[in-house]
Amino acid sequence: MKLLKTVGELQQQIQDSGKGASVGFVPTMGALHEGHISLVKQAVADNSLVVVSIFVNPNQFNDPKDLERYPRTLEADLNLLKTTECDLVFAPDAKEVYPEQDTRIFNFGKLEEVMEGKFRPGHFNGVAQVVSRLFDMVKPDKAYFGLKDFQQLAIIKNMVKQLDLSVEIVPCAIVREDSGLAMSSRNELLSAEERKNASVIAKTLFSAKELKTQKSVQELVEWISNEINNNPFLDVEYVEIVDDEELQTVKSWDEPTTKIACVAVFCGKVRLIDNIIL
Ligand code: PAF
Repeated sequence: MKLLKTVGELQQQIQDSGKGASVGFVPTMGALHEGHISLVKQAVADNSLVVVSIFVNPNQFNDPKDLERYPRTLEADLNLLKTTECDLVFAPDAKEVYPEQDTRIFNFGKLEEVMEGKFRPGHFNGVAQVVSRLFDMVKPDKAYFGLKDFQQLAIIKNMVKQLDLSVEIVPCAIVREDSGLAMSSRNELLSAEERKNASVIAKTLFSAKELKTQKSVQELVEWISNEINNNPFLDVEYVEIVDDEELQTVKSWDEPTTKIACVAVFCGKVRLIDNIIL
């Protein structure tokens, strides 16, 4: 496994790895956990060369305090990646990714008007900026993203269409801690007590799936919100039940779409998201 800091080094290594190699790419912001490792393992299974990027992208943080707090654990990340068959780790600094300011404005229409797009203005524009730049540097055949960030996945698929890129986007299942809590780099920022209580988010979503037939969509949204807010450590920012393609609010179970319940919840200062297919 090689650690590379510049685009030049990265592209040289990819070229040296032999023509015709299929390149799998896992973009990350570091603070790696088993969720990331599952993406890397899938990439290893599907490709002959696997690149993981580690870059905390300032352009996707709408809150400077969130950016400052975001965990940075390069050494531990590299140790964890050594347990996989990842070939190249690309950990550039901001100047390498953005030699000049990226002023592109993407338009994701309705997809970005809800949930994360609504509560974190500019977030998805920053994600699209960095992912498109990284795709341009790595030129992957396949790129791997976790379903925990369900809306991000929809945005990236849309971006790939808009830019007419040839990369295949591969969604990967949410990996959960034993308590049910969806794995996230942000979990590291929780105290032990907060972490224990944060598991109520997933437990509520699992119960919601069971309760679905007994409640209307609106009742289920309220039920999820109340259940989570009843825990003194947790504060719901949003609960939405949306269709899995356009991410628009579902009004009735009769709508012929796959439905997904998505939540954003503060646990202390830490903002967590999770979702479940109903
Ligand atoms: O999901 C993430 O970790 C980030 O949003 C991504 C895709 C690596 C872009 O910075």
